[in-house]
Amino acid sequence: SHTAKKNAEGALEVGGVDLRELVAEHGSPAYVLDEEDFRIRARAFKHAFKDFDVYYAGKAFLSTTIVRWVMEEGLNLDICSGGELAVALRAGADPKRLGFHGNNKSESELARALDAGVGRIVVDSQYEISRLIELAAERNVVAPVMIRVTAGVEAHTHAYIATAHEDQKFGFSITSGAAFEAVARVNEAPELELLGLHSHIGSQIFDSSGFEVAAKRVIALHATVSEELGVDMPELDLGGGFGIAYTTQDDPSDPAQLATEMGKIVEHECRAFQVDVPKVSIEPGRAIVGPAMCTIYSVGTVKEVELDAGAARTYVSVDGGMSDNIRAALYDADYSCTLANRYSDTEPTLARVVGKHCEAGDIIVKDEFLPSDVQPGDLIAVPGTGAYCRSMASNYNHVPRPPVIAVKDGRTRVVVRRETEDDLLALDMGVDE
Ligand code: LLP
Repeated sequence: SHTAKKNAEGALEVGGVDLRELVAEHGSPAYVLDEEDFRIRARAFKHAFKDFDVYYAGKAFLSTTIVRWVMEEGLNLDICSGGELAVALRAGADPKRLGFHGNNKSESELARALDAGVGRIVVDSQYEISRLIELAAERNVVAPVMIRVTAGVEAHTHAYIATAHEDQKFGFSITSGAAFEAVARVNEAPELELLGLHSHIGSQIFDSSGFEVAAKRVIALHATVSEELGVDMPELDLGGGFGIAYTTQDDPSDPAQLATEMGKIVEHECRAFQVDVPKVSIEPGRAIVGPAMCTIYSVGTVKEVELDAGAARTYVSVDGGMSDNIRAALYDADYSCTLANRYSDTEPTLARVVGKHCEAGDIIVKDEFLPSDVQPGDLIAVPGTGAYCRSMASNYNHVPRPPVIAVKDGRTRVVVRRETEDDLLALDMGVDE
């Protein structure tokens, strides 16, 4: 993050807070959230995409504090469940600035969204359109609707997080004509207000050609709708998915450059099709919160494992693992790490940082050079854990989830407290005596 630096004693400081002190006060593992960094990134998107609306994707990480920061920085918020809606409303978010996603929103989730006055509901199936018509009619309101479309693009990312090819669960296919049918139906329903099309091609994407192809196809449909139905839809959402650097090999996305490229594509295509340029929005999650957090762990054991041909690997076991960061196990994701409590000038050794869970795939950092004197009691920081780590955390092996501690100007503030074993036991209804 922007404020991370090693101090004179070789200890890592974030937001002016020495992580040794943070651990002494709040324990480990902990997610450390750099408020300044989060706000700088949110602001950078807002500034670069000044003609667009920017929706922060809460699925990456959400808490009432984050909602507050997002609103203060002038961004809107993308939510995708009743739970995320509850967090947004608890934080006092303006419901008009919320966009509600999901391929299987329940009846009660849709009802709550309508009752709260959510600004846009992104519909994903004909069944959902029927449901929404009924719910809106019952309430005598008009539901603002965007249509999630499938652009038929093969995004270059892990298969589990690519969402614009034909054979996956999201959206109405443009190619098959399903998307046009959905638009026509929403347009005819007096209970629904047709806002526009929505496309999201996937996550952790670096190659902008995927966005380009998707934008072209979506705008082509936008133009067809204008021509055949005589409606110029006022909005268009091109989704999120902008990649961030997890290791030095990655090349992070630059909001300014993205904005210029996407703005040009939209202008150009709209001119080519002779339609008015709609209000465009994007939904970055990872690119805003990902780099704003690191996870701090304590080393518990260190073990040397012989490999073939005389080589060895040092397994450094820390006090968390796949329950607080599932991304290596799930997507084969790469992370880096650093010794965070002291300076060491011993030879670097090839290390693998692993967790405390009961499976061999419980890896946090696959390969990293750490000082060869790394030992129990040391602190290890893993940067870039802001997105999809706390939000995807589990209680595997009954391990309580770590807290989120915000840091700023040398001070800490608990944003989400540490879970306790009692929290977990509270759900267990006990045994009959
Ligand atoms: N908009 C929609 C409709 C989405 O489905 C997503 C992410 C986003 C925006 C935000 O994408 P971002 O800018 O954060 O890439 N758990 C996976 C990522 C799943 C992404 C789901 N949808 C991971 O850890 O890589």
